[in-house]
Amino acid sequence: MTTPTPLPASGDGSFITLDGLEKVFTVRRRTGPFRREKKEVRAVDGISFTVARGEMVGYIGPNGAGKSTTIKMLTGILTPSGGRLRVAGIDPARERTRLARRIGVVFGQRTTLWWDLPLRDSYRLAHRMYRIPDDRYRENLARCVDLLDLGDLLDVPVRQLSLGQRMRGDIAAALLHDPEVLYLDEPTIGLDVVSKARVRGFLRELNTTRGTTVLLTTHDLTDIEQLCSRVMVIDHGRLMYDGDLTGLHEAGGGERTLVVDLARELPPIDDVPGARFVRADGPRQHLAFPAAASAAPLVAAVAAAYPLVDLSVREPDIESVIAKMYGGTHEERRESLR
Ligand SMILES: Nc1ncnc2c1ncn2[C@@H]1O[C@H](COP(=O)(O)OP(=O)(O)OP(=O)(O)O)[C@@H](O)[C@H]1O
Ligand SMILES: [Mg+2]
Repeated sequence: MTTPTPLPASGDGSFITLDGLEKVFTVRRRTGPFRREKKEVRAVDGISFTVARGEMVGYIGPNGAGKSTTIKMLTGILTPSGGRLRVAGIDPARERTRLARRIGVVFGQRTTLWWDLPLRDSYRLAHRMYRIPDDRYRENLARCVDLLDLGDLLDVPVRQLSLGQRMRGDIAAALLHDPEVLYLDEPTIGLDVVSKARVRGFLRELNTTRGTTVLLTTHDLTDIEQLCSRVMVIDHGRLMYDGDLTGLHEAGGGERTLVVDLARELPPIDDVPGARFVRADGPRQHLAFPAAASAAPLVAAVAAAYPLVDLSVREPDIESVIAKMYGGTHEERRESLR
């Protein structure tokens, strides 16, 4: 571990500060009937960044990159193995309870709600646990119920909720105590298009009207595109990129795909400037274009010259953007991660 450099003095606007943050797990593996081998996993391997109050930042990277581990350290669930960490001036591992009143967390893969109780009861527990003033609580609950469309769900036991309903319920639970920062670990995982749109709209509103600082982990680049002006990419526990999404696409040389459904099977569309014909499945054609470019002129050009029935734009997935950024195919990188 390197000697920690002093953190910038508070008051410089940074709300979350990581300085050479590390988390090393020691795992024991059976290597034979009487043999066990100790192995170190450097899940977070010296990450430094700051997030200003009110920022909405995407935190992305391939499976096993160290995203959830970072979030767990930011909440105080895990204690760092090295480096320094401050959230709102608080050291999360030391003052987890004090920090809890100022942060909200949603783990898409796990619920913080009481499985057998109706949603409403989990909220009442939060009301008491965080000692939220009654009028604040009522106001926040009413707002969440309205914006997340929870009205019909409040009296349903959590185990009977669908994944998308439960996720919306979890997001509300994380916000009843007015946290200044919200960590979201894959909040749109497994949601349908409508639920995703609702969750994104809600988060955007929260960030703009309340100035809540948001750190968002996701495998869906559309989440980032619609919500975050800044994105950080981590891989193997290290920060690989910190900037805007356009820059990430440029660094990755990524392409998006315009999928067009034509009225009938036609020869490949090869006369639209800025688009490259990739393949056709019957009347459906796939056209690639630079990820940083706008799809609008392509759509207009296709619609003007071809019998267009329907279309969609597919984002490159994060794994392929990262793979292109650092060389090697996705499969090769997968292999190297084993
Ligand atoms: N409690 C633990 N004990 C041992 N190893 C762990 C533990 N938690 C995480 N790891 C390891 O640390 C690395 C980072 O895991 P982490 O869950 O932070 O990844 P992630 O970026 O959230 O990935 P995903 O996209 O799959 O959610 C992985 O190699 C994982 O196996
Ligand atoms: Mg994770």
